[in-house]
Amino acid sequence: MTAVRALWFRDPVLSILDQRELPRRTVVRRLSRVEDVAEAIRTLAVRGAPAIGVAAAYGMVVAERGGRHTPERAAGLLRATRPTAYDLFVGVETVRRAWASGGDPLAAADAYRTRIVEECHAIGTAGAPLFATARRVLTHCNAGALATVEWGTALAPIRVARRNGARLFVWVDETRPLLQGSRLTAWELARERIPHAIIADNAAGHYLATGQVDAVIVGADRIARNGDFANKIGTYEKAVVAHENGVPFYVAAPWSTFDARRASGASIPVEERGEDEVLEVGGRRLAPSASRARNPAFDVTPAKFVTAYVTPAGVVRQRAVGRAISEAARARAFAPD
Ligand code: MRU
Repeated sequence: MTAVRALWFRDPVLSILDQRELPRRTVVRRLSRVEDVAEAIRTLAVRGAPAIGVAAAYGMVVAERGGRHTPERAAGLLRATRPTAYDLFVGVETVRRAWASGGDPLAAADAYRTRIVEECHAIGTAGAPLFATARRVLTHCNAGALATVEWGTALAPIRVARRNGARLFVWVDETRPLLQGSRLTAWELARERIPHAIIADNAAGHYLATGQVDAVIVGADRIARNGDFANKIGTYEKAVVAHENGVPFYVAAPWSTFDARRASGASIPVEERGEDEVLEVGGRRLAPSASRARNPAFDVTPAKFVTAYVTPAGVVRQRAVGRAISEAARARAFAPD
């Protein structure tokens, strides 16, 4: 178990740690309507693909308890919040099926949450040996406990390696525009006294090119059958620069992030968010009032830049990822869209 927990459910209310407020304040929001859960996901009060999936699973329970929605309508509300993270669709569909077939939605959501936490722990155990010798690690965005309920994806192997005695140092990309790296990843690492330094996003190439990074590890929002993956905007350029400099690049994710029905990354939907997130910093506008902005929240990185995927079943080399994804899809036994 990790010290940080992103959310918890006490019937009939979902509580979340409001990630928009971190690290300045610890604010817990109590969500008792499915509309509130949807809004929390849309505004990134709860965020990170696996955590969004678990929040949405409990959002379905909140809807069922409220008695105002059909399973289909509640699922529609939650699915409309963010398009990229596949976990959202898996979490919603897991509970929708239980509810629509007369089963117990809470039992389905609890089981889904447990599975995600166990898979993230397994990712930590599988990935930790990668960091026995790679001591200086770069990560992008936040793929820690906040993004996954517990453990993390990219941060799980780092946590487990540290507990096994590895001496690691983490380069933390600040991750504009919403600063998930400098606000959230740094907060998680600081709480566990894991040595780290925050760097401006545009500094990563410098550290990769000058031999100061031994490995890069990131999470993912959706991984296609050929291994192409979507993750926080800026991931693609880190992968290209890591490849150019011969630095291993790892992608860590639970099975709920693997979209077996999508052949490649070309068709992964990329969320475009509001321009204020770019024009403002910390709620204060710094750009000229006449300027406009664009704000894609994710980019897609081709599989050829990935050294290996850290999955709950172990480390899968890039060439073997297709087979691993198909097996995982069969084990999950349904496709959510
Ligand atoms: O927009 P966000 O903060 O939800 O984006 C999160 C990311 O891009 C993470 O890297 C990804 O979800 C993996 S989380 C384990």
